[in-house]
Amino acid sequence: MASVIGLNAHRPPPRPGAAVAGHGRSHAKLILFGEHSVVHGHPAIAVPVHAIGAEADAVPVGGALSVSSDDAAITAREGWQDVPVMAIAATLRRLGLPEEGVHASIRSRVPAGRGFGSSAAVAGAIVAAVADLHGAELDRQTRFELVQEAERVAHGNPSGLDARTTVADRAVAFQRGAVREFDIALQGSFVVADTGVHGSTRRAVADVRALLEREPERAETLLDRLGAIAVDAERALRVGDAQATGGMMDESQRILRELGVSSVEIEALVTAATGAGALGAKLSGGGQGGCIVALIGDGDDATAVTEALRAAGAAGIWSVPPAPHPSGTTT
Ligand code: MEV
Repeated sequence: MASVIGLNAHRPPPRPGAAVAGHGRSHAKLILFGEHSVVHGHPAIAVPVHAIGAEADAVPVGGALSVSSDDAAITAREGWQDVPVMAIAATLRRLGLPEEGVHASIRSRVPAGRGFGSSAAVAGAIVAAVADLHGAELDRQTRFELVQEAERVAHGNPSGLDARTTVADRAVAFQRGAVREFDIALQGSFVVADTGVHGSTRRAVADVRALLEREPERAETLLDRLGAIAVDAERALRVGDAQATGGMMDESQRILRELGVSSVEIEALVTAATGAGALGAKLSGGGQGGCIVALIGDGDDATAVTEALRAAGAAGIWSVPPAPHPSGTTT
């Protein structure tokens, strides 16, 4: 792997005569259906959250690859620079350039360890910035492959769902690397609430794998069902059937709990949301911490759900429109 120098906030001096900077941006993702089962080859559905973005600037410097970030929550974690540096290295390699002489500074609004796909979003912004620095245009498939290459450093063997959604404009139906973007017809909104607990996707994925080894029949039945729900859910989302979507969110949550990836904090937020009138609620992402997502019906007031989530201890709350749009709002 490429060597790393200059951690948080330290940028090596620019290479003499090289004043150009490349710029790139990417965004968070929200998994609606199929987390964990997607790792085992089942379909899943996620939406890009354009309003929660990550940006990167890539500049030519003398010496080794380096990164800096303005987000203390990211840089506080040991090895945080591995994925960003790998994103620079993979992009340079793809462009046929030596893996040296680039610094990337990151500005990310994607909370880390909350199921929002922060490492994929940061990697996506860096890939775009390094390509921009060298005047290269990368198509979506290439950007996906480069983000996925960087993500492997953090997650071992990610399904690719995060990387795919990071480069997507619309909702994504994903299975074994194959992707279909589609439009969600659902009205209303998703409310995302943060447990305040950092979830480790790597550990949660390992726990599900351990369950599969210990109790293969039970675990496979649960994963199969999550996959089947994702298929039905795509249909419900396409036609805007909010009741059916909410019901499938609730069932998914029950299964994810049985798989061992829920937590006391997740259960508290899910119960608060459904108790206050959400049509359905579930964890989103790796679980064992991170965020939950609740569906608010068309015309329903999200205030009661938001207040209930706050009272139940939510550390952060966002409103995400069901149909992804680059100018979508969050609170
Ligand atoms: C993490 O955002 C989603 C998981 O399904 C892992 C993966 O897809 O690689 C838990």
